[in-house]
Amino acid sequence: MIQKPKGTYDLFGIDSKELKYIEHLIDNLLEKYNYEYIRTPIFEASELFHRGIGDTTDIVTKETYDFVDKGNRNITLRPEGTAGVVRSLIENKLYIDLPKKYYYYGPMFRYERPQSGRNREFYQFGIEAFGSNDPRIDAEVISIAVTLYQLLGLKEIKVNINSLGNPSDRLVYKEALKNYFKPYLDELCPDCKNRFDKNPLRILDCKFDSENECMKNPPRSLDYLSLESKTFFEELKKNLTNLKIEYVINPSLVRGLDYYTHTVFEVEAKIEGFGSLNTLCGGGRYDSLSSTLDGPDCYGVGFAMGMERLLKAIDIEKIILPIDDPLDVFVIGITKEDKEVVDNITQLLRYNGFKVDTDYLGRNIKGQFKIADRYNSKYLVIIGEEERNKKTIKIKNNKTKEEKEIKLEELINYLTKVIIWIMKN
Ligand code: HAM
Repeated sequence: MIQKPKGTYDLFGIDSKELKYIEHLIDNLLEKYNYEYIRTPIFEASELFHRGIGDTTDIVTKETYDFVDKGNRNITLRPEGTAGVVRSLIENKLYIDLPKKYYYYGPMFRYERPQSGRNREFYQFGIEAFGSNDPRIDAEVISIAVTLYQLLGLKEIKVNINSLGNPSDRLVYKEALKNYFKPYLDELCPDCKNRFDKNPLRILDCKFDSENECMKNPPRSLDYLSLESKTFFEELKKNLTNLKIEYVINPSLVRGLDYYTHTVFEVEAKIEGFGSLNTLCGGGRYDSLSSTLDGPDCYGVGFAMGMERLLKAIDIEKIILPIDDPLDVFVIGITKEDKEVVDNITQLLRYNGFKVDTDYLGRNIKGQFKIADRYNSKYLVIIGEEERNKKTIKIKNNKTKEEKEIKLEELINYLTKVIIWIMKN
């Protein structure tokens, strides 16, 4: 039997209903915040990610799915969404009338060791806001993630924030990291030795060396901020407090992608039993990414969240989402000869906005009643020879079992009234 590739999964049943519910919630929420939906390709030129995310990051050095296509182009399945959205911003000159605020969903691909909360194909929802260097927009971005978790009823979450400063602060900070790690160089893994010269910041998120003594107390970016960057961070904190968002400052938060400047943040699930991969969402500001990709200078800030981890958090917190969506009507034909009329009525009801199904497996009456119960149908519409001749139908409230015969032309009015009555009660 052919099986799905390692690190991938099929989504169906309750999980797929929950995901659809969450997407619907996101669409509504993002409309309120005035973000526009954007879709970019699932594969892009490999160079986009090398330059965008950074050549020394784990994502680019170890985790991308790369291939050469039939036209000899180096292509990569996107490991994240930000680089593609910024490429689109530049290529389509969307930067001409800033500000622009976008959101997206989609599959991302990283060749990582699969475990609970970590897949090779995973599904992200992300947002990117372009054009403003006011920390109020950073606070808006963080507030969107927090509001979504609140709307879903998640209680045990923790918002971590930190600042990496502007590009010149980063240079000073990187020098401090080099001075600090120099005496430990022999103890570090070969990757970190390479990172030491090229990008010492990436030593901080090394998965191999994380237990090494020298990782306990390395220099922190907050101690190397210029006055301008400190002021930006102070303003961000004020804005978060103003929006009543609780946060903690986590000076060791650096994030695993190279494009960040100033704000970085992550939201963690602090639920017992969630496991160690508990980062629900991560993001930050990336003011130099557009120019790194040969675009104009353009401020940007955003986040992405993994939908698998979100579904897991909902499951572990035992949150019941309102996904139970019963049928309004199941249309039953007593004999084969009734099927044509059954199909006409089914179509008529669907055109009029009801959620309706009927039998396509040739079930007998008993079987049709059974399947209607399985779909939790509110009403049954029953048609037999007698009803066809009289142009009537039998309609049965599937809960009270009350049955009535009505004229066919009264059906829509009747159902509209009773279904609205059910919704109200
Ligand atoms: P990231 O931290 O790499 O950031 O990923 C964001 C979220 O995606 C993580 O917090 C996690 O929930 C989920 N995630 C990442 N890798 C996996 C995986 N292998 N399996 C399951 N879930 C995963 C970014 O992707 C940035 N583009 C975020 C961003 C947007 N920054 C600014 N704008």
